[in-house]
Amino acid sequence: MTAGTGAAVRIDVVSIFPTYFDGLTLSLLGKAQSTGILDLSVRDLRDWTSDRHRTVDDTPYGGGAGMVMKPEPWGLALDELTSTTPPHSGERPTIIFPSPAGEVFTQATARDLSTREHLIFGCGRYEGIDERVFEYASSLGEVRLLSLGDYVLNGGEVATMAMIEAIGRLIPGVVGNPESLVEESHEDGLLEYPSYTKPSMWRDRAVPDVLLSGNHKLIATWRRDQQLERTRTRRPDLLDDAS
Ligand code: ADE
Repeated sequence: MTAGTGAAVRIDVVSIFPTYFDGLTLSLLGKAQSTGILDLSVRDLRDWTSDRHRTVDDTPYGGGAGMVMKPEPWGLALDELTSTTPPHSGERPTIIFPSPAGEVFTQATARDLSTREHLIFGCGRYEGIDERVFEYASSLGEVRLLSLGDYVLNGGEVATMAMIEAIGRLIPGVVGNPESLVEESHEDGLLEYPSYTKPSMWRDRAVPDVLLSGNHKLIATWRRDQQLERTRTRRPDLLDDAS
């Protein structure tokens, strides 16, 4: 608990590769954990197995390539993690399974999830998790299957890292200067304008004159035009969404 920010946001991650998440102890999210804004735990799914080989996968019913994650360890993991959801508001935990078959994770998703008290990420591997786990999980919390984009990763770990970073930086107090969150790509549905710093001339390339003019109104108009132009050429789909 930190003065003025209320209770920590709790994030639990379940994975068979917990060391993937060592990077989350660095930088702003690492600091948020040491100051108590963020309560992050990474757990090994194999700790909820009971056989000698700590088995988490088996062959698919109906045949086909690859292996499927068994439901039993997931059930026990979810039972344990949801039974300790912080009780401040009676909010149910949000249980996220990264999946290329999920809805696309966007800045709006990150904003929504940054307001939750308890997020649980379940990282699938192999050909995925037994479908009954998702049904069971919805009896314990709000289940979201979320995709990073239209490509396939080897498992949910990298997607979970990306989502935790996008969500975590929106939790109040994580980013020191909250104004830096306002003028970013995707916050207003457009791509960010270009940025420059000193020197004003570098390898025969000049900083646009308008940025040296001191005329704030002109600078704001130029930046907006740059945002629109970049979005039109690089991401026209975003302009379609806005209209
Ligand atoms: N797991 C594998 N591919 C993924 C993707 N594109 N997004 C989220 N999780 C995934």
